[in-house]
Amino acid sequence: MQSALEQLQEIRVQALAALNVEDLDLAGLAAWEKHYLSASGVIGEVLKQMGGLPTDERPLVGRETNAVKRELTSAWESRRTQMQEASLHTRLSQESIDITLPGRVPPIGTIHPISQMIDEVSEIFAYLGFETVFGPEVEIGKYNFDMLNIPANHPARDVWDTMIVDDDRDEIVLRTHTSPMQARVMEQRQPPVRVIVPGRVFRFEAQDASHEWMFHQIEGLAIDAHITMTDLKGVLTELARQLFGSATEIRFRCDFFPFVEPGVDFSVSCPFCKGKGCRVCKHSGWIELGGAGMVHPNVLRWVNYDPDLVQGFAFGLGVERLAMIKYGINDVRAFAANDVRFLRQFARADFGLGLVTA
Ligand code: PHE
Repeated sequence: MQSALEQLQEIRVQALAALNVEDLDLAGLAAWEKHYLSASGVIGEVLKQMGGLPTDERPLVGRETNAVKRELTSAWESRRTQMQEASLHTRLSQESIDITLPGRVPPIGTIHPISQMIDEVSEIFAYLGFETVFGPEVEIGKYNFDMLNIPANHPARDVWDTMIVDDDRDEIVLRTHTSPMQARVMEQRQPPVRVIVPGRVFRFEAQDASHEWMFHQIEGLAIDAHITMTDLKGVLTELARQLFGSATEIRFRCDFFPFVEPGVDFSVSCPFCKGKGCRVCKHSGWIELGGAGMVHPNVLRWVNYDPDLVQGFAFGLGVERLAMIKYGINDVRAFAANDVRFLRQFARADFGLGLVTA
């Protein structure tokens, strides 16, 4: 029978030969380690037989076994390192990175044309001394109607096709105009007041090229001791000229809104045909932008202002209408349709990095 030392030598020679086989792969390497080095491997077996050896042979065999195990372990480690390096080398030589390719520009969003329009109008009004404030889109009847001189059951309430959220408690509605903010602002502040209120409004309406159930308005409100209709006309003329050029005119026509007296609708002279008449202005020379007037004394009384001491004007501008004129858009539905091909046309070079991918 083979002595334990001979057995160890044989294991050592076999193991080193198996480790140096040319086409050994990583799976083969793992199997090798399990076979020779693991606790249940062949060297482990030799150690288990130690108990049957004569006492004086044991230290020698023990030492020799550990020496072989160390040698095999270090051979295995260097073979592993060598194989890993070889595989990395192969991968690197196969992969190639072309550093001369142009970088990929990440897609960057653009500011929505309606937001751009609101920003532009806010800036013009800032120069005229108006602060921009915002109010809730979900309103209660008290502000959307009552405090604007439109009592419950009054037929004027039907002028705004209201989307009702909850009719049982407080008459909760989606605001039909930005005018409720007139009352909210005056309730909170004392005159002089100069604010504009941009925001979404909602009406229960069928959609077509010029009607949307959701659109934007900019409310304007100025209250002070000596404000007249002339101030209203001056402010709106300044706005129109800043937006559409210095020759633009403003026209008032009588209209009725319960919260103003007198009330008007206001139009700008058509910036396309300069008032001569064209398709955009339907050959009238004028394009209507919204409603306005002098704040009704009842509205002032509701917020505890004294109509004998202060008065003022209010107006409501249609933002989509402004943007359609300014950018030559003929269908209001384009604004909320979310078609990026439409929206990208409003990319501004001065926004962000100015990068917009095709
Ligand atoms: N709130 C009115 C509307 O949406 C417009 C308006 C505002 C009229 C302010 C007069 C004064 O129809």
